[in-house]
Amino acid sequence: MFSPGNKAERARMGEIVNQGERVLDMFAGIGYFTLPMARAGAQVTAVERNPTAFRYLVENVRRNGVDDRVRPYRADCRDVVRAGLSGARGRGTEEREATGGERPESPGLGEAETVDRVMMGYYEAHEYLDAALAALKPGGVVHMHEATPEALVFDRPVERLEAAAADADRSMEVLETHKVKGYSEGVAHVVVDARIT
Ligand SMILES: C[S@@+](CC[C@H](N)C(=O)[O-])C[C@H]1O[C@@H](n2cnc3c(N)ncnc32)[C@H](O)[C@@H]1O
Repeated sequence: MFSPGNKAERARMGEIVNQGERVLDMFAGIGYFTLPMARAGAQVTAVERNPTAFRYLVENVRRNGVDDRVRPYRADCRDVVRAGLSGARGRGTEEREATGGERPESPGLGEAETVDRVMMGYYEAHEYLDAALAALKPGGVVHMHEATPEALVFDRPVERLEAAAADADRSMEVLETHKVKGYSEGVAHVVVDARIT
């Protein structure tokens, strides 16, 4: 998962979060974006459904000394949003694994809680925009990644965000767009930062 092409984006995420901010990383992988954000002082709910990736996520959280700022869930991110927002204990939250020992109640996606920022570092992220927006507080920021054919950069991801915001009866403002790296011939890995009010 450690793609050198993502290095600058990884650093950027560590720079733009604010101390104490609440972040939901919906596709945490082994912690590629979770770690720099937590190290910068954010409280991150990190969701990863693949058991192997999750194991490395938990290990990386521990090795980087950010156990108190990361709440990892081995689950489908939709289940975590659903369970968090309704207060119900879904299958996802039951599978949560502690990163070790007793610790104080750390901010995660709890009952009726929403977050300041949603990280969507996954090429199919647009399919989860409804869940992302449900988790995002008014004025929060979403970072949506996408593998986009060159001819559709940046129109397609922006249109997808606009459509999701309209479906949720919310407004959307694009803060930043950029290419992260080449994905394949004629296809770019892009990210759009958008504020959802
Ligand atoms: C392309 S990787 C990116 C991981 C990380 N953001 C990075 O850049 O290294 C996408 C990850 O999302 C996970 N994933 C895909 N769908 C998911 C879902 N519905 N819920 C939670 N994790 C999911 C995959 O298992 C994979 O580890």
